[in-house]
Amino acid sequence: MSPLSLLFLLLATTTASAPLRPGFYSETCPEAESIVRQVMKKAMAREPRSIASVMRFQFHDCFVNGCDASLLLDDTPTMLGEKLALSNINSLRSFEVIDEVKEALEKVCPGTVSCADIIIMAARDAVALSGGPNWEVRLGRKDSFTASQEDSNNIMPSPRANASYLIDLFSQFNLSVKDLVALSGSHSIGQGRCFSIMFRLYNQSGSGKPDPALEPKYRERLDMLCPLGGDENVTGDLDATPQTFDNQYFKDLVAGRGFLNSDETLFTFSQTRDYVRLFSKNQGKFFKAFVEGMLKMGDLQSGRPGEVRINCRVPNSRPVDVLLEY
Ligand code: HEM
Repeated sequence: MSPLSLLFLLLATTTASAPLRPGFYSETCPEAESIVRQVMKKAMAREPRSIASVMRFQFHDCFVNGCDASLLLDDTPTMLGEKLALSNINSLRSFEVIDEVKEALEKVCPGTVSCADIIIMAARDAVALSGGPNWEVRLGRKDSFTASQEDSNNIMPSPRANASYLIDLFSQFNLSVKDLVALSGSHSIGQGRCFSIMFRLYNQSGSGKPDPALEPKYRERLDMLCPLGGDENVTGDLDATPQTFDNQYFKDLVAGRGFLNSDETLFTFSQTRDYVRLFSKNQGKFFKAFVEGMLKMGDLQSGRPGEVRINCRVPNSRPVDVLLEY
């Protein structure tokens, strides 16, 4: 059995174990949601991209052993965490925004709000603050004691992935083809590195040629941004309006202007194309499907025991002398 099937089994048998609900902190920390929103607003004013970067955490956390903030744990001498996993290294950023949220929450209601719930609230806020939909999130998650670089490596998809691979991957998390397309619409905000698109600009599928799905003018622009032999940490916008959460991403895909291969493939592949077309024409339907997808993804849980971490980067139970080494 593959690690992914194993994980799915685990999730499928345990998702009902921790009841998540709206208003989970209404008694214990009534200001929790407004505090998260305020810190996200400040982060956005300081650096607009940072809220997109934080929004991405929900995907990278929830797909790897459920939404348990395992992603936020720093490596230790005995644990290789997820921050340096293939899809995350030199790529995930703005962890300090979560630290700031956590510090603000600890001042008002110490030891109460989990880091896993902070990720879920912050992702929702990133979307709402960028002009996208606002929705009520279900809360009550616990933080993991550990993280797994190996699981992240095995699970998180590459930017080279095609739609058929992605459909299969998402289905293992009970997410439909519609969920996949809608959730990919999160690339309506934020940026990606040249590193993630070099193959499709210069050697798609080992052909020595660019991806034929790339619209020529857009490809010229990307070639200038990401020349062969250039700095692959240079970043480009994931759609034409990277600070606004809207359906421009889908309009771009229809026009052959998707940044990642995993984006454009949603239009070139017949099973996903109709949803791309629908969302490109109807923003309301995109927003509705996106919210449904985020709620479903946010419900993924491993069923393992957990805690409410005081510092999102370290489990509470680690002895103080180990903490002091860092
Ligand atoms: C469908 C499969 C997906 C793949 C293959 C994928 C892959 C990627 C890649 C390669 C990048 C750029 C990373 C870099 O170059 O450093 C990126 C950025 C991003 N992804 Fe995804 N992603 C997927 C789905 C999602 C989902 C479901 C979400 C959230 C719900 C999401 C949110 C984001 C955001 C917001 C950014 C921009 C981050 C920033 O500006 O720092 N992605 N993704």
